[in-house]
Amino acid sequence: MSGPNTDYDPVEVTPLKPEEVAAARDAALAAVAAAGDLEQLKQARLEHAGDRSALALANREIRALPPQARKEAGQRIGQARGAVNQAIAERQAVLEAEHEERMLVEETVDVTLPTDRTVPGARHPLTTGSELIADIFVAMGWAIAEGPVLEAEWLNFDALNLGPDHPARTMHDTFWTEPSDNGIVLRTHTSPVQARTMLGQEPPIYVACPGRVFRTDEYDATHSPVFHQVEGLAIDEGLTMAHLRGTLDHLVSTLFGEGIETRFRPSYFPFTEPSAEMDMVCFVCRGTGLAAPGGATGAGATCRTCRGEGWIELGGCGMVNPRVLTACGVDPERYTGFAFGFGIDRIMMFRHGVEDLRGFFEGDVRFTTAFGSEL
Ligand code: DAH
Repeated sequence: MSGPNTDYDPVEVTPLKPEEVAAARDAALAAVAAAGDLEQLKQARLEHAGDRSALALANREIRALPPQARKEAGQRIGQARGAVNQAIAERQAVLEAEHEERMLVEETVDVTLPTDRTVPGARHPLTTGSELIADIFVAMGWAIAEGPVLEAEWLNFDALNLGPDHPARTMHDTFWTEPSDNGIVLRTHTSPVQARTMLGQEPPIYVACPGRVFRTDEYDATHSPVFHQVEGLAIDEGLTMAHLRGTLDHLVSTLFGEGIETRFRPSYFPFTEPSAEMDMVCFVCRGTGLAAPGGATGAGATCRTCRGEGWIELGGCGMVNPRVLTACGVDPERYTGFAFGFGIDRIMMFRHGVEDLRGFFEGDVRFTTAFGSEL
């Protein structure tokens, strides 16, 4: 088909016949009325009112008519086009309103619906606590070391100057494994990691080792057969007890706040000489041993955190016994070292006012979430 004839043409072209124009208009109106959504209406508009539509082509052919016929044809086609455009505009308005209404219904949020009750949970306080302690040492340039929980008896005891007949061996209520002569125990402390580290690398050594340890203790509010310790070991030239004290003071002030007083009490561990027990002043009563005046427990009552002691015991420490250095291949003439072993569970109990150790091990999400998501 050739394009529309826009030049004067004495022959009237077919689409300009009144029936044709009316038919094109009716087809357009029917298509507009049938458009079920805005997309379909767009298609109908392109087809029936667009540049290539029958009515648009007819409109362009008006000029090809003899002058006396143009007015009448122009009116007729103009009316038809007007009717189509109006129908499109009206349908557009209706469909837009419908669309909006549907969106409002579909996107409605019912704020009265019950919420998702899945409790998100939280990281276990012993995990976050261990990581927090590890971070304190990493920030001082220490490395983090790990060892197995099923440990060689020799590393758990003998290498640490706890020979077979050493009386202190019996103080470690040890879980032995079958067969009884296999020389493997569930480690009773994290100290074997000291021996492993010294055997595995040359000084200088600065390692911290948080981990699980096991003893045949009764399970009660302050004891558990599984608990957690953090071991520290520093081996270098010229290390003294002052370095030990400074390191532990830094640990305590980072965990419990600046200015918390600490003290060393003489003690005994086979793997350190001299040995000490480190206490910190109770951060609740600040050493008085008394509950806060006006507190829930009443005047004169003892402090619940330190049970009236005024001090909180954190763990053992000391200068690494030269016999241990020798057993682990470190020259005691050249190097000295310090070590310590603190209970993580105890630290976390004090830090968060947990009165019953069992809370850490019972797996009750209400206990864990109370700690929030400490990172
Ligand atoms: N291993 C000891 C225990 O479980 C704690 C300890 C004391 C570790 C003194 C040390 C230390 O490294 O030097 O009771």
